[in-house]
Amino acid sequence: MAIRVARLSQGDVAKASALARRVMLATPYYPREVLEEEARRFTPAALRKRGRGTLFLVARDGTEVLGFCAGYHEDGGLFWLDWIGVDARARGRGVGRALLGALEEAVGGKARKIWCDTRTTNEESMALLRKQGYERVAEYRRHWYGLDFYIWEKRLE
Ligand SMILES: CC(C)(COP(=O)(O)OP(=O)(O)OC[C@H]1O[C@@H](n2cnc3c(N)ncnc32)[C@H](O)[C@@H]1OP(=O)(O)O)[C@@H](O)C(=O)NCCC(=O)NCCS
Repeated sequence: MAIRVARLSQGDVAKASALARRVMLATPYYPREVLEEEARRFTPAALRKRGRGTLFLVARDGTEVLGFCAGYHEDGGLFWLDWIGVDARARGRGVGRALLGALEEAVGGKARKIWCDTRTTNEESMALLRKQGYERVAEYRRHWYGLDFYIWEKRLE
């Protein structure tokens, strides 16, 4: 079945929250306590409360939610991509690229750039961003939580 990406609907909140939290808690790039703090921002209640300027996209294959990306508009024409994640069983099938493509369509015209970070060791995430035309623009050593990060951007105009 074809992968379709859409904004989060009320009907998908429980599935999207479960997926996001599962993907986050399984990622090896942050200490456990950081991931638990992050996962608390993606409970069903938190997803229902997300306000204006935020965006949460889900990728579905029929009724199954396979991936998500989340972020928010910032002053000055920027969109911060906060998290992207794909169910471990569905990786390598273009779900990540479909999410980023849909994100560009959703924020294009409102934002000049999408920007985000990756841990300097997150090869799969960096490969996805490169494939999607993101440029690595900065490196921050011992930054959030004392960890090393790259900053990436995709110009939309
Ligand atoms: C990063 C992630 C979202 C990629 O999702 P995905 O659906 O597997 O990505 P895609 O199938 O769209 O792959 C796109 C490109 O990325 C690259 N890529 C993806 N996974 C890769 C891997 N494990 N190793 C090397 N390259 C990889 C490939 O070049 C691929 O292009 P191709 O299909 O032409 O070969 C997924 O691995 C994930 O959820 N990781 C855990 C969560 C995470 O770390 N998120 C980022 C932190 S915010």
